Amino acid sequence: MTERTIVITGASDGIGAAAAAILSGRPDTTLVLVGRSPAKIRAVAERLGVEYHVCDYTKLSEVRALAATLAKAHPVIDVLANNAGGVFSPRTVTGDGYETTLQVNHLAGLLLTELLLDPLRAGEGSVIFTASMAAFRGSIDLTDLGKQKGWSSFGAYGAAKLANIISARAMQRKYGSEGLHFASFHPGVVATSFGSTSGGVVKWLYASRLGKRVMRTPEDGADTLVWLATTKPGVDWRVGGYYSDRTLTDPPKQARDDTFGDRFLEASDLLIR
Ligand SMILES: NC(=O)c1ccc[n+]([C@@H]2O[C@H](COP(=O)([O-])OP(=O)(O)OC[C@H]3O[C@@H](n4cnc5c(N)ncnc54)[C@H](OP(=O)(O)O)[C@@H]3O)[C@@H](O)[C@H]2O)c1
Repeated sequence: MTERTIVITGASDGIGAAAAAILSGRPDTTLVLVGRSPAKIRAVAERLGVEYHVCDYTKLSEVRALAATLAKAHPVIDVLANNAGGVFSPRTVTGDGYETTLQVNHLAGLLLTELLLDPLRAGEGSVIFTASMAAFRGSIDLTDLGKQKGWSSFGAYGAAKLANIISARAMQRKYGSEGLHFASFHPGVVATSFGSTSGGVVKWLYASRLGKRVMRTPEDGADTLVWLATTKPGVDWRVGGYYSDRTLTDPPKQARDDTFGDRFLEASDLLIR
């Protein structure tokens, strides 16, 4: 049995923690978990008996340090699940100078991916982005990525999740010939701690008993992530694709424009170099 190394970010709670619990039952898997809250990620990792790291995505220096530690400890990475994310309200700007929702959902995961390309190449690895159908409500303006004009929490979140879908497609075009595989997916509307860092109706809905009753469980929300992480790219799923409930799904219009996607990836790269 070949041992596979799977790194999951945003593993201290919700979908990431549920995916970790499911994958920890596989004898062929070395799990590496990443979370922001030291106490939460330690609790999850100790329960499962797996390695963990703490990293706050609002600080790109911590992402660089995490990548260096992971690359040293794991010269071969088979799967990187870029799952950390959320809605952050009111509008704030990180110490790196970027709008927080954009940085946590998109720029930090992109940076981690790029810094782990060598171990991913060694594993002919897959990179999975937890996107959202909120991307259908988002739009990206290359001249205003941080939405200085007309910011709203859900607009910023939709754009950041659109960025995840575009990243998977654009990185597939850029790195696919090097044996790497990329995909994004929508997990469904899932009863997690999502919304706790936002305001308004999103925060209320996710915290309410009614919301929790109509939403799917974190285990169900993790299903497509686990499926993408444990099946064969190019055989069981289409590389660069956007999935929902294990089904290839048409992405939003802006994500289907590959010329725009390449320009967006270049613009994002300039921000994290
Ligand atoms: N729940 C839904 O309905 C839904 C729908 C579509 C997409 N999604 C996406 O699914 C992913 C997981 O969300 P979830 O629903 O499981 O929510 P969650 O329970 O709030 O989990 C979010 C995870 O992201 C981590 N995170 C948040 N801010 C971070 C930061 N600054 N640096 C590093 N990590 C950070 C959290 O770490 P700590 O717990 O340690 O703070 C936690 O592990 C997100 O990308 C979200 O956008 C969720």
